[in-house]
Amino acid sequence: MTFPKDFTWGAATSSYQIEGFPHADGRGASVWDEFCATPGRVHNGDTGAVACEHYTRSAEDVQLMRDLGLRAYRFSVAWPRVMPTGRGPANAAGLAFYDRLVDQLLEAKVEPWLTLFHWDYPLPLYREGGWLHPDSPQWFADYTHAVVDKLSDRVRHWMTLNEPQCFMGLGHQTGIHAPGDKLPLDQALLATQNVLLAHGLAVQVIRSRAKSPPLVGWAPTGEVPTPATETEADIQAARETYWQVPPTSVWNMAWWLDPVLRGHYPEQGLQAYGSAVPRFTEADLRTMHQPLDFLGLNIYHGYSCRRSADGKIEVLKPSAGSPHLHNHWPFHPAALQWGPTFVHERYGLPIVITENGTATHDWVFADGEIHDSSRVDFFSRYLAALRRAMANGVNVKGYFAWSLMDNFEWAEGYRFRFGLVHVDFATQKRTLKDSARWYSECIRSNGEFLPD
Ligand code: FCB
Repeated sequence: MTFPKDFTWGAATSSYQIEGFPHADGRGASVWDEFCATPGRVHNGDTGAVACEHYTRSAEDVQLMRDLGLRAYRFSVAWPRVMPTGRGPANAAGLAFYDRLVDQLLEAKVEPWLTLFHWDYPLPLYREGGWLHPDSPQWFADYTHAVVDKLSDRVRHWMTLNEPQCFMGLGHQTGIHAPGDKLPLDQALLATQNVLLAHGLAVQVIRSRAKSPPLVGWAPTGEVPTPATETEADIQAARETYWQVPPTSVWNMAWWLDPVLRGHYPEQGLQAYGSAVPRFTEADLRTMHQPLDFLGLNIYHGYSCRRSADGKIEVLKPSAGSPHLHNHWPFHPAALQWGPTFVHERYGLPIVITENGTATHDWVFADGEIHDSSRVDFFSRYLAALRRAMANGVNVKGYFAWSLMDNFEWAEGYRFRFGLVHVDFATQKRTLKDSARWYSECIRSNGEFLPD
């Protein structure tokens, strides 16, 4: 089986991870600039200050996309470029960068897919309270307004937020990511609620102001429990685990997705969080619950589980020596079958895999090439799993490889390479890896040679 003819094959990046030039054209500071400048926060003291210098090399990078035959490119806009202090009048010079990028993409016949927020939150707004501030949803809506007014004549695909679980969970609960906060649960849930409201207001802004008909989604994430065997008992065990809201963490699917797609918090989550749940009104829920055209899913890993004889759910430990990615996440292709399957069953919305990829142990070989065969195997087996879900009726419209090129991997600095394209960070030289050629061929043939 091949993929549908109009399947969107793309690759993804994000602003802070590739752009560099943190002071160019009036850009303001983000929480990630400050986090990187704080000793001990990021591996090796690395920062995104240079990254891939995409800010001045976008023409070259779009040419790479054209060479690869990408149909679409998912990138994010840096809020502090558009509004240096996070609010107030838009900074024309900052917006001009994205304006050029969009033109370059369209000229190369690569469809722009724009994410409004991929974690580089304006530092001055954080200092005023950030996502805890009652005005924070409106701040995001105002920023969205500026981006939509400038780019929506040409950009049709919009995503509001990237991985809210991650910037709330890692950024505000465990403190591993910027801004490095460790909020108590009730505060974390209040910030979460503001994020959900921000999403809803932004969707309203896009729909009411876009100059060409928009397609709107967002890009949540989560590890995927998968059934140890394809029996109904194990499938149900995995499904239940997937939708479970744990009592102390915002890392889950249902608390985020149910308000956005069903208009209410999940009952089990309300019970699990108990008195930590913030006050909310029916009007709040209506704001969060805006019609979406697609649901993005960022999926990297998962784990097996089954129903044991006593009826309990048992999570299986990976067996000794089982494969994992260079950054230690487990290699678990079934995640790309069951994640979309469970989401499809619950919400029925068209799905786009907005990120999937792997860090592998890449270097430039003596022959000048990067032979990343494990990345090729990763993509082919995850994509085969996705196609199994599609063969069973799950409506998947597209797939974005993470990432177009090696980049700044947040608290891990530059030690993990996720790119299809190798970046030599000392010289900024870009070199296609074997996996880039493979992916290009996969796109050209519409996935025809993928294994079953
Ligand atoms: C995701 C992030 C993305 C990248 C990949 C590896 O969680 O959205 O920016 O870091 O992981």
